[in-house]
Amino acid sequence: MHVVWDIAVILQTYIICTSSAQPITSKLDDGWWAYKDVVQGSFVPVPSFWGLVNSAWNLCAIGKRQSPIDIETSHMIFDPYLTPLRLNTGGHKMGGTMYNTGKHVSLRPDKAHLVNISGGPLGYSYRLEEVRVHFGSEDSQGSEHLLNGQGFPGEVQLIHYNQDLYANYSEAAKSPHGIAVVSIFIKHHTVAGDWPAVGGTAQKVSAWAMRQPSNYDAFLLMGLNIADLYPDTTRYITYEGSITIPPCYETSTWILINKPVYVTQMQMHSLRLLSQNEPYKIFLSMSDNTRPTQPLLQRCIRTNINFSKQGRDCPNNRALRPQYRVNQWLLK
Ligand SMILES: *[C@@H]1O[C@H](CO)[C@@H](O)[C@H](O)[C@H]1NC(C)=O
Ligand SMILES: *[C@@H]1O[C@H](CO)[C@@H](O)[C@H](O)[C@H]1NC(C)=O
Ligand SMILES: *[C@@H]1O[C@H](CO)[C@@H](O)[C@H](O)[C@H]1NC(C)=O
Repeated sequence: MHVVWDIAVILQTYIICTSSAQPITSKLDDGWWAYKDVVQGSFVPVPSFWGLVNSAWNLCAIGKRQSPIDIETSHMIFDPYLTPLRLNTGGHKMGGTMYNTGKHVSLRPDKAHLVNISGGPLGYSYRLEEVRVHFGSEDSQGSEHLLNGQGFPGEVQLIHYNQDLYANYSEAAKSPHGIAVVSIFIKHHTVAGDWPAVGGTAQKVSAWAMRQPSNYDAFLLMGLNIADLYPDTTRYITYEGSITIPPCYETSTWILINKPVYVTQMQMHSLRLLSQNEPYKIFLSMSDNTRPTQPLLQRCIRTNINFSKQGRDCPNNRALRPQYRVNQWLLK
């Protein structure tokens, strides 16, 4: 059977399978910070405090090229020199492990078959390190990036590091041109049944949801084709920003794909049942694991979407720039 590993299938496989998987170690715990107030009486810094509690994280507070941002389409500039992004999987399928890190649903590819991207706005080749999922407690929120002030139920981020210049992710994350993140918005299916059927999906998911979901589980996925994760479009929006978790290093090129992936209400519901805590601790929904948007300031947002009028200079000349009506091009 040919399985198309779109993100919905991956999430669903994870959600169905983690109930019987092994707990992971604390190796993936990425630090003492949180997205939202946790339990009363225990202070863990939320986004507005990230830059204040640890001097190594001060970019979170004082950085001027931070992510995520609100993409105002009227500020986008068409750049005819932006080529399509190139994805190189070497024709291999790969394996990976899915985790609940307490903060995200995270997929780490194994090292046997490497996947890299290049082209587009990227001057180097970048290797896939992690796929991270952000999602909301309500349908109007959950993505880190916004589009004209509007949020989406979720955002998938494929995080890569510059393999031409750096030995590994940790070195690249703090270095110039270190990181490239491909971001894909998650939307709901609006048409019932309009999604690839995987045997007894709805039953499996609801059966899973009715059991006590054991979080912090790891699950091994095999035969992944990363190309299947990408929506069918070459259109994207790009800007220079930061990683969206502490230490907020300003080393990331962001590439937002101009087409969403779709999940069902049921899958969204199952995601919202994931806890930040180990199963024996109090339930704390992982949803709304997003950093608030940061000011764009003197940066420009480029796109390869040709909405027929060309942006002039970059960076800023906003007052002179025509107000492009490009909404009809976006996320179709
Ligand atoms: C990118 O990945 C492909 C396939 O795995 C590999 O053949 C190629 O050498 C990689 N490029 C670099 C620069 O490592
Ligand atoms: C990453 O690479 C640097 C430089 O080569 C090295 O010092 C460091 O130990 C590596 N870190 C990991 C986690 O492999
Ligand atoms: C952009 O679209 C316009 C109108 O369709 C076309 O005339 C122009 O050649 C296109 N530019 C590029 C660089 O593709």
